[in-house]
Amino acid sequence: MRLRSEIIGCGGYLPERIVTNAELARSLDTSDDWIVQRTGIRQRHIAAEGELCSDLARRAAQRALAAAGVTGAELDLIVLATTTPDNTFPATATKVQAQLGMTGGCAFDVQAVCSGFVYALAVADNFIKAGQARTALVIGSETFSRILDWHDRSTCVLFGDGAGALVLRAAPAQGPGDRGVLSTHLHSDGRDYPMLYVDGGPSSTQTTGSVRMDGREVFRNAVHRLAEAVDEALAANRLTAADIDWLVPHQANRRIIDSIGRKLGLSAEKVVVTIDRHANTSAASIPLALAEAAGDGRIRAGQLVLIEAMGGGLTWGASLLRW
Ligand code: ACO
Repeated sequence: MRLRSEIIGCGGYLPERIVTNAELARSLDTSDDWIVQRTGIRQRHIAAEGELCSDLARRAAQRALAAAGVTGAELDLIVLATTTPDNTFPATATKVQAQLGMTGGCAFDVQAVCSGFVYALAVADNFIKAGQARTALVIGSETFSRILDWHDRSTCVLFGDGAGALVLRAAPAQGPGDRGVLSTHLHSDGRDYPMLYVDGGPSSTQTTGSVRMDGREVFRNAVHRLAEAVDEALAANRLTAADIDWLVPHQANRRIIDSIGRKLGLSAEKVVVTIDRHANTSAASIPLALAEAAGDGRIRAGQLVLIEAMGGGLTWGASLLRW
């Protein structure tokens, strides 16, 4: 029997503390005007001292499980996308596994920076299609504030902390009109490593390091690579942009989001935007946006949702979902 992954629940969590652009401008040579005009960001949430990636992940997961009506004990797979794990090892996913009361199956982390959620979704979907998992939790969780150089205005204003999660369940594949994950499309090109990286790590410097980015080059690559991934996802499903009900893009820069929306010919109301309030939460941005738009009734059962992301590596990808 052919299997597919149905989406049965979704949840998000943001740390309580909000830091506005104006607050950053008090200690940094920047301004609310510059940040809003260049990025669309107005504020970001920052994890409290002692609040870890696993804490954000657990809270988002609990909300997703409650929405799905599933207990942690019923899960047999957790794939957690993060660039900012609690520790170098073990995987943050195993900590969340224990916290959720899941004792069977397996839990592991996936690292593809801002594309992490699309990668984690692809991994979980493939486990389900192969019959290796029945009920999977896919999480994107980040404490990006911990790997920022707070003196570097060209990067530190861009990011925030948060987590989002989706619960997937195996169901028989019946054909066109099936709900769930329709397809996933992943890419990477390691030659672009210097464009966006962290200047530390256990093997290189034995420090955590800070984000370094050639913003202009990342921007340029994002626009054309995301457009290619989106076209690939539509073509694989014999769909056109006119079929899409919602574009839920990774939230890195409002101008990148708008350019993909324009390329697809989508009206602004069909694009879910959270960057103004969340900033770039890396692997968490897509599930947070899905949780928001599904939670407030914008995304409804049966609708077609396109997600896409690009991040360090470079990595990028897209996926089509029937909600
Ligand atoms: N406040 C004020 N001025 C600033 C700031 C700031 N926060 N940051 C940079 N500037 C200045 C620069 O120093 C530069 O000044 P100069 O002209 O005197 O040299 C000027 O603004 C223009 O800088 P640019 O870098 O050319 O500005 P740009 O319009 O490209 O915007 C930005 C920069 C917002 C970073 C943009 O390039 C961008 O969003 N890039 C993509 C980032 C991204 O998508 N990342 C996603 C992946 S993240 C991941 O995977 C972890």
